[in-house]
Amino acid sequence: MATYPPEPFRIKMIEPIHLIDRNQRAGALRRVNYNLFGLRAEEIFIDLLTDSGTGSMSQTQWAALMTGDESYAGARSFYRLEKAIHEIFGFRYFVPTHQGRAAENVLCTLYVKAGDYIPSNMHFDTTDANIRARGGQPVNLVDESAFDPTFRHPFKGNMDLNKLQAFIEEVGVEKIPFGMLTITNNSGGGQPVSLENIRNVSKIYHHFGIPFFIDACRYAENSFFIKQREQGYSQKSTLEIAREIFALADGVTMSAKKDAIVNIGGFLAMNDQDMYQNACNELILREGFPTYGGLAGRDLDAIAVGLWEGLDEDYLAYRLGQTGYLAERLLEKDIPIIEPAGGHAVYLDAGRLLPHIPQSEFPGQSLSIALYLEGGIRSIEIGSVMFAQKNPKSGETIYPKLELVRLAIPRRVYTQAHLDYVADTIIQIASKREELRGLMITYQPALLRHFTAHFEPL
Ligand SMILES: Cc1ncc(COP(=O)(O)O)c(C=O)c1O
Repeated sequence: MATYPPEPFRIKMIEPIHLIDRNQRAGALRRVNYNLFGLRAEEIFIDLLTDSGTGSMSQTQWAALMTGDESYAGARSFYRLEKAIHEIFGFRYFVPTHQGRAAENVLCTLYVKAGDYIPSNMHFDTTDANIRARGGQPVNLVDESAFDPTFRHPFKGNMDLNKLQAFIEEVGVEKIPFGMLTITNNSGGGQPVSLENIRNVSKIYHHFGIPFFIDACRYAENSFFIKQREQGYSQKSTLEIAREIFALADGVTMSAKKDAIVNIGGFLAMNDQDMYQNACNELILREGFPTYGGLAGRDLDAIAVGLWEGLDEDYLAYRLGQTGYLAERLLEKDIPIIEPAGGHAVYLDAGRLLPHIPQSEFPGQSLSIALYLEGGIRSIEIGSVMFAQKNPKSGETIYPKLELVRLAIPRRVYTQAHLDYVADTIIQIASKREELRGLMITYQPALLRHFTAHFEPL
């Protein structure tokens, strides 16, 4: 029977949740044009939309808020965060940003110009869009195992090194201002990248003189996977592993809303002094003075504490145990998911669960709507709604390889009973899967359409 380590904390404060009735849920869906981003929080029972900014802060983090220094420039909070970033990540410079995409925006504004390419294992949607917004082309070169949902490779987030090398030789270094790697690979199932792979990616980028930036949102979860799965690392601490990872890179973009377990915040860190100076100028224009970067001093303090808590190994064993547990409960009933479970989420494979719904009719969106209607559970489609693109030359639609629905688990928020409720709801939906229908889009913006698109059931 599936199980996971008990929470290494007890609950000191609660937030009531309530399941509204099915008619109300159906009405809410019509009102929001079948886009779950439009729902109000009180219309949701279990919210698995994202693990980003939705975690519970600890008593130590709440206490740290009270020490926040709100000086416009030179705040003590900034220097406390600087110390944590320096001790864990080791980069010489950093600027705080209000969240991860703001760090991506600064990086892309400084370096991406029309016609450039930015390779990665897989870019997250905001990184993808920030590169495109500057006229660049995001390129995903993840190992093919990422697209085989049942292949239990321990590091399915790995970059395909041959593809990376061939790609750089094909387009030329002058068209690649920097290269990236996302750990863990959110768009590809929350799968980790091995240290061996990170080392080789670093070698290839640096061989060609290309700066190497890591999207480090879930660096602690990735480090713990390395400890659990990679030969030679079981005796190393997650901190030592994290340091080894970042010593291989020239900088990071970080959304602190993930592994720093805060509700808002991020940063861009780097070793290069010129880059830091340019980033400061850009930051002042868009985010704020470089010692607060769009955040309150108290937010910086909460991140400084959370970065350490996110690396705690008892916490990580429970955390990765939770996603593993939910995955096992679903696999016991043959519900197709990406295997093995990701770090922060379980990804339902809507393509395999609903083979009667073609990609043009959004099987993932259909499944996520059913989850809300049946159980008041909010999830997110990571499939054609999020990633289908029109080929600019032929006008033909290019569909992603997988149609997924992500069940992201907020950090330190839900208990095993909540996870059992989610599993039972999915098992019930799967038992009447033929009744589910596709949807059509009736409105969409040019970029990041999944946030605001409107749908109608077919
Ligand atoms: C891998 C990855 N990169 C970047 C981001 C963007 O971070 P933020 O939502 O803080 O802007 C996310 C957020 O979900 C992510 O998962």
